[in-house]
Amino acid sequence: MSDFVNGFWGIFISVVAVGGVVWCLWLLYTQRRWLSTKPASGQVEDTGHVWDGDLTELNNPVPTWWTWMYLLACVFALGYLFFMPGLGSYKGQLGYSSTEEVARHQAKMAEAVRPIYARFETMTVPQVAGDPSAREMGQRLFLNTCAQCHGSDAKGGPSFPNLTDGDWLYGGSPEVIMETITKGRHGVMPPWKAAIDAKTAGDIAQYVRSLSGLTSDDIRVFRGKREFANFCVACHGVDGKGNQLLGAPNLTDDVWLYGSSEASIVKTILDGRDNRMPAHEHILSPEQIKILTAWVWGLSNKPEAAAQAAATTAGNPPAVSTAAK
Ligand code: HEC
Ligand code: HEC
Repeated sequence: MSDFVNGFWGIFISVVAVGGVVWCLWLLYTQRRWLSTKPASGQVEDTGHVWDGDLTELNNPVPTWWTWMYLLACVFALGYLFFMPGLGSYKGQLGYSSTEEVARHQAKMAEAVRPIYARFETMTVPQVAGDPSAREMGQRLFLNTCAQCHGSDAKGGPSFPNLTDGDWLYGGSPEVIMETITKGRHGVMPPWKAAIDAKTAGDIAQYVRSLSGLTSDDIRVFRGKREFANFCVACHGVDGKGNQLLGAPNLTDDVWLYGSSEASIVKTILDGRDNRMPAHEHILSPEQIKILTAWVWGLSNKPEAAAQAAATTAGNPPAVSTAAK
């Protein structure tokens, strides 16, 4: 397989690779010719460098074994370039591909770990969440692939949602969590700088704070409420409780992605926010995603109790999170 953007680079690499070997051979040839023109006196020529009065540097011809080694190295290089893919887009006579080798190794690994995951295949997510060994695996997977953003305790931080509080941007059912991990998420709050001035944004921020029962200025809340109805309800809802289909947060629960200060809310309104959770479908296998889904779901649900409930209604995983909203 060739990753070159155009044919030029393939040719460039070939010329450099073959040219390098040819240059080595040329060097050997010219140097030997020069050495064989040394005086016939039998005396070894010296370079004219003398140290400490009597230490001279001789100019002996290179030993025969060295010459052979040098030649063999050149032959090996040419042979390698003939059999292996080393010349631009040329695939080599043996057709070796490191991509295929990696794929072979990965398939072997997947085969080796299949029995470990097989047990969870027929289980529902709440049942997996109730399994102690699945929880251990889930935690390890989380620490490896998710903790750098969501924190090792999964409690998140500014712009990274807390996954333990039962409050969800997109929803906390096993299906939605699985979709979040598999496909990723892109939360976009549009900037309002063009339509809203800083003072009005401050009033709206006061109203948003009042929705969570935080201290606020009544007169500004009154003005802000009117503007909120104009600009914000389309996504955050008339009651400010958000919309999980859009990832628009509930603004009434005092849970904040960016902080509850007036300055932070004003910044969100004026500049907007653009937040991304990367897709993991190419990083994790479906089995690993299921175990992670169960682990994350278990952070804000009671897995054991749910596992029993799910066992009695086998095949019908509960679709509603127990999160108090
Ligand atoms: C590069 C950083 C990053 C990594 C790695 C990452 N996430 Fe996220 N995750 C985010 C961001 C940012 C959001 C919020 C997206 C938004 O605001 O739209 C998010 C959102 C989520 C949500 C939705 C939360 C809600 O309230 O609906 C879940 C669930 C989640 N992540 C789980 C995971 C899991 C499990 C992993 C590991 C496989 C993971 N994340 C890895 C950054 C990350
Ligand atoms: C087009 C839909 C949309 C509109 C309109 C909109 N928002 Fe948002 N808003 C979002 C989304 C989506 C997010 C989440 C961004 C993220 O994931 O980082 C968000 C985030 C926020 C946050 C951050 C909440 C937190 O937890 O820190 C605040 C505050 C906010 N919006 C207030 C407003 C206000 C006030 C208005 C009206 C001026 C408004 N939004 C209009 C979609 C919208």
